[in-house]
Amino acid sequence: MANRFVVDANRKKSKIHKELQGHFSEHLGRCIYGGLFVGKNSEIPNVNGLRTDVVEALKEIRVPVLRWPGGCFADEYHWKDGIGPAESRKKMVNTHWGGVVEDNSFGTHEFLELCRQIGCEPYINGNVGSGTVQEMSEWVEYMTFDGVSPMADLRSANGREEPWKIKYFGIGNENWGCGGNMRPSYYADLYRQFQTYVRNYGDNRVFKIACGPSNDDYKWTDTVMEIAGKYMDGLSLHYYTVPGPWSHKGSATDFSEDEYYLTLKKTLFMDELIQNHTEIMNRHDPEHRVGLIVDEWGTWFDVEPGTNPGFLYQQNTMRDALVAAVNLNIFNKHSDRVRMANIAQMVNVLQSVILTEGADMIKTPTWSVFDLYKAHQDAHLVESWIESGTAADGVPQLHESASVDDSGVLHITIANLSADSAADVSCELPGLHPEKISARILSGGIHDHNTFECPHTVSIRDFSGITSAENGFEFSIPACSVMEITIIPSEVTMRGANYIKA
Ligand code: AHR
Repeated sequence: MANRFVVDANRKKSKIHKELQGHFSEHLGRCIYGGLFVGKNSEIPNVNGLRTDVVEALKEIRVPVLRWPGGCFADEYHWKDGIGPAESRKKMVNTHWGGVVEDNSFGTHEFLELCRQIGCEPYINGNVGSGTVQEMSEWVEYMTFDGVSPMADLRSANGREEPWKIKYFGIGNENWGCGGNMRPSYYADLYRQFQTYVRNYGDNRVFKIACGPSNDDYKWTDTVMEIAGKYMDGLSLHYYTVPGPWSHKGSATDFSEDEYYLTLKKTLFMDELIQNHTEIMNRHDPEHRVGLIVDEWGTWFDVEPGTNPGFLYQQNTMRDALVAAVNLNIFNKHSDRVRMANIAQMVNVLQSVILTEGADMIKTPTWSVFDLYKAHQDAHLVESWIESGTAADGVPQLHESASVDDSGVLHITIANLSADSAADVSCELPGLHPEKISARILSGGIHDHNTFECPHTVSIRDFSGITSAENGFEFSIPACSVMEITIIPSEVTMRGANYIKA
């Protein structure tokens, strides 16, 4: 019996801001150094020190926004250590992450050059835990003030005459933990103070993001919204998918089927978390002015054997692909409140889209999911629901979302979470006449992953198993797979819209 799936393309809901597919990069392990930045003198092909292969791969998935410099590192980072001639920059100990030397050769200018090359918005996270109001204020002045001022002059002296545009600015990170172990009311007052001096210079408008809760800390959300809600544009939420206890999170590649389903069950908890935090936010902000910013999400497993435990380097399998698919569908469905989400982290750390080893680079299954979902960026969520069976206790077999873009093209993303059973799907499209349907799929066994020796074990391929039916279309989705289905309605063809699939 086929699973009934209904997509009503005429019932448009909230906009899926492209920032829901954002990323996060921290001075942690080999994310920045080696992963993104190799320096101008490296033999690895680079432009201004940034790896060409990695930048090209990130452009392919249309990275919309990138958060930096942390994470826990943000509340230890002093931005003035990372400007000026690289050879005279201060060296420091990266106390959070492996105790290695941080030579500050990647700083503000290098990060903003990275964003320029990728073509994404920067999201800079300021230091509240060990920084000062003046330091934060001067950072914003340094980056965005156009005119004569001490910080604008310093920027010019460092070779950048023009100010940058900085839209997203975070005021502290995890201030309930590594960012100062604060209580919510204390942080909320500090937030009010710090944000006062984060100025809008010229026509630059800063979208200010307050430190939000960890997981289900609803008291944090309630208190911070109560005290500081009217001074913020966004409130962050951090939730990682961790299958085991912190002391034994489990291997990224060597896991049982039970662990596989447990991982997905824990991922699905994101939906409940967003709903509950949204309800609290609704009480303080019924107009939905403040966005929920899920600026750290993803899988967190034990590090790869033999690697530095402080570097958080893990492999990435089809299990990660399904975690990404589920999370991105959830963000789409909650796009009336969720304004941004940033997977942790971009390269070589936790659930990465890219892994590097010296001059080699591989795209992970998670990279492929971002590729399958990119058409949702800035499209409108539409009403959709599926009658799905169960893959395991607490885990539905099918998980989906759908959107319509500005040219009227319908995009569906659907995942089969079952480790071993295909699912027949009968999709109804009320009020829509498909002119052309195409699909792409990422599929494999739950442990399948790419390695430097076999970089293409898991990759996207075209899917030709769609057949049209009276009210829509039908297909069978293989076990453990993620699909993107693109439907060009006949009205779009009749309007002569020039739709080109990127
Ligand atoms: O992403 C790794 C760490 O997880 C971040 O630095 C911190 O914010 C979170 O606890």
